[in-house]
Amino acid sequence: MADNKAILKAGDKEVELPILSGTAGHDVIDIRSLGTNGYFTYDPGFMATGSCESSITYIDGAKGILLHRGYSIEELARDADYIEVVYMLLHDKTPNTEEYKAFKDTITRHTLVHDQVNNFFRGFRRDAHPMAMLCGTVGAMSSFYHDDLNINDPEQRLRSAYRLVAKMPTLVAMCYKYNIGQPFVYPRNDLSYAENFLNMMFSVPAEDYKISPAVAKAVDRIFILHADHEQNASTSTVRLAGSSGANPYACIAAGVASLWGPAHGGANEACLNMLEEIGTVDRIPEFIAKAKDKADPFRLMGFGHRVYKNFDPRATVMRESCHEVLAELNIDDPLLNVAMELERIALSDPYFAEKKLFPNVDFYSGIVLKAIGIPTNMFTCIFALARTVGWVSHWHEMLSQPGQKIGRPRQLYTGEAQRSYNKIDK
Ligand code: SDX
Repeated sequence: MADNKAILKAGDKEVELPILSGTAGHDVIDIRSLGTNGYFTYDPGFMATGSCESSITYIDGAKGILLHRGYSIEELARDADYIEVVYMLLHDKTPNTEEYKAFKDTITRHTLVHDQVNNFFRGFRRDAHPMAMLCGTVGAMSSFYHDDLNINDPEQRLRSAYRLVAKMPTLVAMCYKYNIGQPFVYPRNDLSYAENFLNMMFSVPAEDYKISPAVAKAVDRIFILHADHEQNASTSTVRLAGSSGANPYACIAAGVASLWGPAHGGANEACLNMLEEIGTVDRIPEFIAKAKDKADPFRLMGFGHRVYKNFDPRATVMRESCHEVLAELNIDDPLLNVAMELERIALSDPYFAEKKLFPNVDFYSGIVLKAIGIPTNMFTCIFALARTVGWVSHWHEMLSQPGQKIGRPRQLYTGEAQRSYNKIDK
């Protein structure tokens, strides 16, 4: 793909660097030879660094485009279901009817976790944050699937990927049930992926749980909208962990840990906590002022994005879903009224337009999750559930690429120059 070159003039050196072009998006300057010429690049936060070659997801931040294997997120959210998206992300093609049914059956039959997993929960405090429990239990899964795991075998990698996608809803629901002191609910093979999750979350042995088709559809759509997003922080974490050959369950646990941060997947929980702190519509201007105040570290949670600089296409779809669910469930929650008014004010304020700050997917997904009765501290677990397919797809892709190397960035050293150690009397 190298069809032109960049010339780097540095000091008395002139270095030719190939420029590589992909299917779409920015060309990249291949800097792999720079080290031998005495230079490293410097890009904290990876604002302008391509860490890998991938064919899974493409984002155009300026145009608000998000494609998964070439399919637009709008079409997938409208016409596909999450299991189809999982198949397509892992296999680089949409399933036909027969493939879909077989794959759905495969995932369904892996939803049960080893019964000893229940014991891990007994070690957590009842009020442990669900993400702390999810981190721990996903990592613990590596102890059940370690010996018969050859990550260099594509079939065994895919089996791990299927198991992780299948078991995450079960583990997430177990975190919730443990928090509220209700018995764990086993998965059922007669329910769809989203229905199964809702049933494991909200059914109790004492009575039947009636699943709302509208809620199940909204949950399935939330899963699709959070499935993958190129080389975001948690996916990059999984790739780096996986590049050493680590156990896939341990790598996904690392992804869960990275997603937890409020700047990333923790934003939906942080957004609802912010709405609760604002409390009433008349306090919105006070918080808008805080967000603009450089001296104030406060940020509007659920607003802005590193890549999207006009709008997040997922937020557009999620916003529609949000209003559908609120109407369908006939919800008139004061908190949701604050959210809608905050959205209106922020979108009309020149400051946010100049800074390219607009509601992102987490702003609306938090509102929908609250509307369907999911507690705020569970939001990021649901994001992790949905993103698992993105993590395992990138992990699988990385290990299938020839010449795959362990990730090992360098640095700009600004510490002390070498100095002598003075031994002390101890
Ligand atoms: C996700 O990477 C992905 O793809 C992530 C994700 C995925 O699917 O994996 O899309 C999921 O993480 C979505 C983002 C969720 N995070 C939040 O909603 C938290 C609030 N948002 C901010 O923390 C922030 O917008 C980030 C982290 C999302 C993006 O930050 P950047 O790109 O590093 O931008 P920045 O911090 O350099 O901010 C640029 C300017 C700054 O002002 P100046 O210093 O230029 O004067 O915008 C301001 C910031 O102060 N700013 C905000 C703001 N976000 C940025 N000001 C107020 N409120 C905000 N939310």
